Amino acid sequence: MSGTDGFGQRHGSPTSGSSASEMPPLVSPPQPPRAEPRDGERLAETLPFRARPTQPVEQPGDQPETLVDVAPEVAPDDVPEVVLGPTGRPMPEIPEPGPRSTTARARVISMCNQKGGVGKTTTTINLGASLAEFGRKVLLVDFDPQGSLSVGLGLNPHQMDLTIYNLLMQRDVALEEVVVPSGVPGMDLLPSNIDLSAAEVQLVHEVAREQTLSRVLAPALEQYDVILIDCQPSLGLLTVNALTASDGVIVPLECEYFALRGVALLKTTIDKVRERLNPRLHVDGVLGTMYDGRTLHGREVMERLVEAWGDTVFHTVIRRTVKFSDSTVAGEPITSYASSSPGAAAYRQLAKEVLDRCPDA
Ligand SMILES: Nc1ncnc2c1ncn2[C@@H]1O[C@H](COP(=O)(O)OP(=O)(O)O)[C@@H](O)[C@H]1O
Ligand SMILES: [Mg+2]
Repeated sequence: MSGTDGFGQRHGSPTSGSSASEMPPLVSPPQPPRAEPRDGERLAETLPFRARPTQPVEQPGDQPETLVDVAPEVAPDDVPEVVLGPTGRPMPEIPEPGPRSTTARARVISMCNQKGGVGKTTTTINLGASLAEFGRKVLLVDFDPQGSLSVGLGLNPHQMDLTIYNLLMQRDVALEEVVVPSGVPGMDLLPSNIDLSAAEVQLVHEVAREQTLSRVLAPALEQYDVILIDCQPSLGLLTVNALTASDGVIVPLECEYFALRGVALLKTTIDKVRERLNPRLHVDGVLGTMYDGRTLHGREVMERLVEAWGDTVFHTVIRRTVKFSDSTVAGEPITSYASSSPGAAAYRQLAKEVLDRCPDA
């Protein structure tokens, strides 16, 4: 996959990579005004291309189909307009998700980027809520000791009986004892608070320390369709645990100048986990967040993202809007706090894209 894939298609024919003959009506050659035959002049002779004598004389409104694959010299104005998405690539039709087509175990997806403030937690909440709207049974795992996911869903970090820390460190604590409802129908939460920071230190001495989260999540695989893990902003042992427990990774990247710094290290970490601990780990997508398409800067960063990650970049882009902070304060996803806002629509579209890319979700 070439880095210039996305933008390479911008000026070219939309048929690149597929047979031109599949799309005859789209590239019809320029049409002269349909003049009435004058002075016995044959209409066909007024066409700019060699008309075949055997062709029936045209009816008004006919397209000269037989000329389509001749690759005429088409004036730029006649190239059908390709709708480019915010990533600079042609925007595909994303299918409406149906019911889950498999009864297989849940798909586990980590939101991962060692930078803070890039939209991991916001994406976990709102992608989860959107997937629940599409009928998926969703479990969110707060795997950041800062507990932002739990707070963002209205929990008080000081009033949690049991958290994921207990689940990881105490063998007598069961998953059902820790899971709480999220307030969104069809979506549950494994909460966390600052206790989890101790787990990182204590896990170092455990046998199979990287597989601890995977082990404790095993019973949830039968009960849910999708499990989303909100990682902490580091590539330490907790994040390695999350990647080891996951089938896929989504990398949210803020559309800012320094967004790509550190991404190489993240890629290396994902590759190492895949080689050594979890061969099924797959990068499900890179998500541009906090995008401002009105600025040249925003568009340039998006261009660089697509250069670096190609088609791994989701077509869906999350624009910058204050509604996200507002909904965090309200303790609910934007899909319910401002259900008809563009931010809610963007996460619903992301959910559709994720379901399209991951048939097991
Ligand atoms: N698309 C967006 N537009 C504006 N603000 C956003 C957007 N996404 C997230 N935020 C805000 O940015 C801050 C950091 O987002 P967060 O999801 O907590 O990042 P992370 O989990 O990567 O640290 C939060 O205050 C959040 O409300
Ligand atoms: Mg976070």
